[in-house]
Amino acid sequence: MPPLRHPLINSRYPHLLHGGDYNPDQWPLRPDILAEDIRLMKQAGCNTLSVGIFAWATLEPEEGRFEFEWLDRTMDDLAKAGLHAILATPSGARPHWMAQKYPEVLSVEPNRTRRLFGLRHNHCPTSPVYREKCAQINSLLAERYGKHPALLVWHVSNEYSSGYCHCPLCQEAFRDWLRRRHGTLEALNQAWWTTFWSHTYTDWSQIESPAPHGEHFLHALNLDWRRFATDQTVDFMKNEIAPLRAHSPEIPVTTNLMGFFYDLNPWKLAPELDVISWDSYPDWGAPQGDVAVGFRTAFAHDLNRSLKGGRPFMLMESTPSVVNWRDVAKLKRPGMHLLSSLQAVAHGADTVQYFQWRKSRGASEKFHGAVVDHVGHEHTRVFKDVAEVGGVLAKLDAVAGSGVPAEIALVFDWENRWALDDAQGPRKSKGYEDACHAHYHAFWKRGLPVDVLHMDGDFSSYRLVVAPMLYLVRPGVAERLEAFVEAGGTLVVTYWSGIVDANDLCFLGGFPGPLRRLLGIWAEEIDALHDGETNRVLPSAGNRLGLARHYEARELCDLIHAESAGVLATYGQDFYAGRPALTENRFGKGRAYYVAARLDANFHEDFTGALATELGLRSALPGTLPEGLSVQIRSDGTHDFLFLMNFLPHENTVDLGTETLEDLLGGGALRGPLTLPGFGCRVLRRLSTS
Ligand code: GLA
Ligand code: ZN
Repeated sequence: MPPLRHPLINSRYPHLLHGGDYNPDQWPLRPDILAEDIRLMKQAGCNTLSVGIFAWATLEPEEGRFEFEWLDRTMDDLAKAGLHAILATPSGARPHWMAQKYPEVLSVEPNRTRRLFGLRHNHCPTSPVYREKCAQINSLLAERYGKHPALLVWHVSNEYSSGYCHCPLCQEAFRDWLRRRHGTLEALNQAWWTTFWSHTYTDWSQIESPAPHGEHFLHALNLDWRRFATDQTVDFMKNEIAPLRAHSPEIPVTTNLMGFFYDLNPWKLAPELDVISWDSYPDWGAPQGDVAVGFRTAFAHDLNRSLKGGRPFMLMESTPSVVNWRDVAKLKRPGMHLLSSLQAVAHGADTVQYFQWRKSRGASEKFHGAVVDHVGHEHTRVFKDVAEVGGVLAKLDAVAGSGVPAEIALVFDWENRWALDDAQGPRKSKGYEDACHAHYHAFWKRGLPVDVLHMDGDFSSYRLVVAPMLYLVRPGVAERLEAFVEAGGTLVVTYWSGIVDANDLCFLGGFPGPLRRLLGIWAEEIDALHDGETNRVLPSAGNRLGLARHYEARELCDLIHAESAGVLATYGQDFYAGRPALTENRFGKGRAYYVAARLDANFHEDFTGALATELGLRSALPGTLPEGLSVQIRSDGTHDFLFLMNFLPHENTVDLGTETLEDLLGGGALRGPLTLPGFGCRVLRRLSTS
């Protein structure tokens, strides 16, 4: 279990933060609107606004001429009103003059075409000019505002995502990076298996990033290119952060991440940041239903909390109503705004921030949700929803800084994801996220808190570690998993694990490679099923976990041999009927399970239930939870805060049991059955059981 008491986002402000992206730079001609903004912020219960995110052209309208008066006014106005600022560095987009004078700041596409000026998040991360310009503007901002009473947090850039620039500068940087990683060209050729199709490199200059009209099936190249893109982004970010820390070491630094965004490995960015923040845009109201959207969003919140060892994170962006970039911009139903905001807090957020405070009048986001609509006043449904959240957060000061008592770690690893998806076979769509969701959903339904780790994470403080589809295994991982199980931990690994090493080279001598001894099995072959095809998995009579139902297998079925492991279930059909489908290996004081096939929700329910009972895992609320109701727990070690959240559009009743719980929002004490309205939520407090 990670620690339960953490530093506040900023120790000067012992409250949950509430606010959003604020763009006074878009309204220079409307002082009346700017004055009105401050009044409305107070009215909405907002306390902290994010300023300057895309303001470079306003800050530096021509090269070397800086205009800070508007930002001085904004920061002073916020401070005077008792409000705070999250101040951004502007590198998410740059002024026209810069791209015109220094085209190298613009990134180059995989087809080797340099982008024209436009859009955002598309700079070259290597360009010395861009790095210098960023360092300069960041220094000026930090010098000027680093000690400003309004400033709480530095917001570096916006949604870093442009690490994949294919310009000549980036190619050279990639080659240098490869020299550092592999040492010699011989070693690189060996690691990348370049004798295949006669692709042996004989000079470093022959190495090019993956290209649609060039090399893109050399999977180890693809993997190293992705690693490089993350490292180059981290390097770029460090260049941005240095002047901020130099001028204002006491102000925490964050950058807004994007949940399970594919192209950057957030575990590499996290150590450089003081606080994690992320932008969450779930598709509430989507046809799959809000329960499905709800548990997937929960998983992403848990990832962000786990990125810094359980330290509370910032929900940096969310929408107060619609997201305009989806195919269908559905309104949040009544209740959903409070529910989705509190869901973030339930999983460890100490802030609820929005994109955006006031709707822009023109350009591409003029129809994106905002606290203040084009009508300009507070008499809107959305404004009232936001003010309600403001009122609720103000009652939850005690929650700030508390942690989540997770006894379970779920491994989700970016390099594994990239390598797995890129491989040809055994199926085009591998479903890594789905595999993780299937386990996560079973925990969510039982109110069992979960941390999300990468494979290099520290497993030692958990009772149960689940590593679905651990296809790529980096050096040291198997040894650490062995140590974890040996010391009494329980491990679950699934089909298609232990297949390649960190260079994407297959393990020789039998899968699951370095995990074979721990799992006590040999995976000889894997069968891929067409969509709609199924097999059956039948629990063995008298199996120790008490599994009793028949389960359905889809998509991937490993054909394994139990070596030291015992068999808990077998396949029911096809030529491999009778072969093991679920095994258990005793290893030291612990046990390691292998789930050989992608199994249905009934399996996950039964298997998770059996493990939870056997290990005595503590759920947030004892007893069975009704479908669609999530209970999450935060705790500071003295008090537990229980968040009860109904993701169904109709009433749902939960049994609180005999214990008396304090209702932090409504006041009073509660026990026994509690009925929540559709999309209803409650926050309760009890003496800690953690
Ligand atoms: C992202 C960006 C914001 C805005 C929102 C809209 O998260 O950071 O600038 O574009 O999306 O949903
Ligand atoms: Zn570049």
